[in-house]
Amino acid sequence: MSATDSTEPNRRDFLYVATGVAGAVGAAGVAWPFIDQMRPDASTRALASVQVDVSGVEPGMSLTVKWRGKPVFVRNRTEAEIEAARQTPLDDLKDPVARNANIAGDAPATDIARSAGEGRENWLIMVGVCTHLGCVPLGQAGDFGGWFCPCHGSHYDTAGRIRKGPAPENLPVPTLAFISDTMIEIG
Ligand code: FES
Repeated sequence: MSATDSTEPNRRDFLYVATGVAGAVGAAGVAWPFIDQMRPDASTRALASVQVDVSGVEPGMSLTVKWRGKPVFVRNRTEAEIEAARQTPLDDLKDPVARNANIAGDAPATDIARSAGEGRENWLIMVGVCTHLGCVPLGQAGDFGGWFCPCHGSHYDTAGRIRKGPAPENLPVPTLAFISDTMIEIG
């Protein structure tokens, strides 16, 4: 299956997708306040970008925001999560490419290349759509302590890189910029 297939799930896959979304919303109620920060006063711009205030997101906390109709995970990673990802040999990665829209398309999937960059390695911002068939993975779950997609069992690590299961690619990092120390613009 390729990522492209995720846009046209068959009926059975749709049921899986619906289940996955319900699971993610349940998890959000506990740990991740769901914040829709689309700006209604700038509807045209909101279609393209969304601004996220991360001032209250302490290490170990995440937000899920909606961007272009998709969930985007914004995680302030702990030192342990960063360290675990850094120590993973690149040869262990199923998808060796960073999948980060902010850097070169062929950049390797090192931890720094997956993060918001030098000095902001703690921030990991990714589109929260499983690259297998489009479910929403659950955070801080699975064999690698990152994200787990319950639909068909894909495990992502603490840098959002696919490590096990049918998903073919790392969770994509969207175009983003810190417009202040506490405000991220996605898109
Ligand atoms: S959609 Fe199949 S493992 Fe995520």
